[in-house]
Amino acid sequence: SMQLELKNVNLRAGDKLKLKGEILHDAERFQIDLGRDSDDLALHFNPRFDDDSDGAVLVCNSKVAGCWGDEKREIHNPLQRGSDVKIELKLSGDEFEVELPDGQEVQFPNRVGMDVITYVRVKGDFKLTSFKIC
Ligand code: GAL
Repeated sequence: SMQLELKNVNLRAGDKLKLKGEILHDAERFQIDLGRDSDDLALHFNPRFDDDSDGAVLVCNSKVAGCWGDEKREIHNPLQRGSDVKIELKLSGDEFEVELPDGQEVQFPNRVGMDVITYVRVKGDFKLTSFKIC
């Protein structure tokens, strides 16, 4: 399980993150978090492969002062354990757009109204091979 934590980034509407890597063969979950710090996240993007209630599912949430908001779940998780993937996250101001390998896009509203993202974390059962801010 890996963790990349970036603390002084400056991302705004129009900016993109491009990640490449491999989902571990025995992956349970990984996450990509965008926010101000680990207690304040505008986007927690969390693919799960063996969730107790939904099995393979894409979970999105926000976190304010350490408290999770209401989860948004996308029951169709196109990500496969053991595969190489490219994931792009776009900040479009009022929402986040996550582009997945098969052309599927997941949207999550910027419901905490965070205009500037200063904290990025990638964590979990993923082998990150490339990370770019564009
Ligand atoms: C919790 C989990 C957290 C986070 C959150 C998202 O159950 O422990 O890591 O994924 O759900 O709502």
